Amino acid sequence: MRLIHLIVGARPNFMKMAPLYRELSLSSNRYEPQIIHTGQHYDEQMSKLFFNDLAMPEPSAYLNVGSGTQGKQTARIIERYEDLILAGDKPDLVIVAGDVNSTIACALVAKKLQIPVAHLEAGLRSYDEQMPEEINRVLTDRISDILLTPSLDANENLIKEGINPEKIHFVGNIMIDSLIRHQKKAELSDIFDKLTMSQDESYALVTLHRPSNVDECDGLKMLLTSLIEIGKHIKIIFPMHPRTKKNIQNFGLSNYVNSSKNIIFTEPLGYFDFLKLEMNAKLILTDSGGVQEESTYFRVPCLTLRENTERPITISEGTNQLVDLNVTSIVNKSLEITEGKVKQGKIPKHWDGKTAERVVMVLDKWFEERDKATDSTESTEK
Ligand code: UD1
Ligand code: UDP
Repeated sequence: MRLIHLIVGARPNFMKMAPLYRELSLSSNRYEPQIIHTGQHYDEQMSKLFFNDLAMPEPSAYLNVGSGTQGKQTARIIERYEDLILAGDKPDLVIVAGDVNSTIACALVAKKLQIPVAHLEAGLRSYDEQMPEEINRVLTDRISDILLTPSLDANENLIKEGINPEKIHFVGNIMIDSLIRHQKKAELSDIFDKLTMSQDESYALVTLHRPSNVDECDGLKMLLTSLIEIGKHIKIIFPMHPRTKKNIQNFGLSNYVNSSKNIIFTEPLGYFDFLKLEMNAKLILTDSGGVQEESTYFRVPCLTLRENTERPITISEGTNQLVDLNVTSIVNKSLEITEGKVKQGKIPKHWDGKTAERVVMVLDKWFEERDKATDSTESTEK
């Protein structure tokens, strides 16, 4: 059996790895998948909750790295993951997902130990190097042996960067595998009761956590002011990321949070509760990568509060739009949507719940070809 490490660390990693863990486990003893949790996210609502919702087993190892500056957090993951591999069995493959610090850190460790790396969600580019994630994406793709892309624009980006096309495989969006698998359960969530509102009530759903939006007082104030303005027209539900919550407290902006009765701020929500809120929302305002994609799948209008997106397919095919970062634009665009001017969208190719299956097919073929190449090298040497 081939030992495969699946790296998780931050919230969006869990939805991406759960379907792959499942599919690899079903592979009639070809693969032994092990979940390695770096501990980049560690609060119950940012981590443990998802293991329960997504029916994932406890991680085989927990590296407990916690929070820190970009450099410190990345370095801690590198140090602890390398120690783990050196002390135990060397995996045959390491699979990393997305663009968080755990992704590049573990890819780097594996590569330097001569372990092949597969990158799930390869090839996405915002072309904005102010984003720590963009640096993680580019570097992870550069050193990965198997690049698994969610959409064809990602293939094009990789080709432009000179990556060998044989390494690139368009498998589709694995986050949508989780969404489809759990949609029925999500429909049964009692989140509206918990929020003491009725399912028929119109509301906008908001998430914000990008450093470019929440790490500067003025920018965060502008976004909260926009929400208060929108809240005069429609109820808002805002499950708050810990980074955002901490900054609101540090910048002394708690009065903004308390000033509108029409805005419900909550802790980060569980997966089923959050999906239910997404699928029933009139409008989603977000800076999250995953939420842009899920809103496209649900065909719910989404305004992305960023200057760019690494997921342009959610705009060209889906219901997503970028919005200029000022109060007037954010409020006007939101009200256009609540008043019925809604962008229609379609679901992109291979966002169909079968991405994990396609990934395992790619891996089967990759191992088969590698074994063949090794056999022929050995026989030539003899
Ligand atoms: C990280 C990812 C980002 C991803 C996001 C998903 C990087 C560079 N960033 O951003 O790409 O979109 O996760 O949610 O990898 N905190 C807690 N409890 C937790 C986790 C974090 O309180 O369980 C607080 C800490 O104060 C921490 C801050 O949130 O300093 C930021 O956490 P961090 O993991 O550094 O970055 P995110 O903003 O979560
Ligand atoms: N999500 C969740 N609860 C929340 C907010 C988001 O379950 O309160 C889910 C969401 O459905 C999606 C994922 O978290 O599957 C997106 O993660 P996040 O926005 O943290 O990261 P990003 O995608 O921006 O990297």
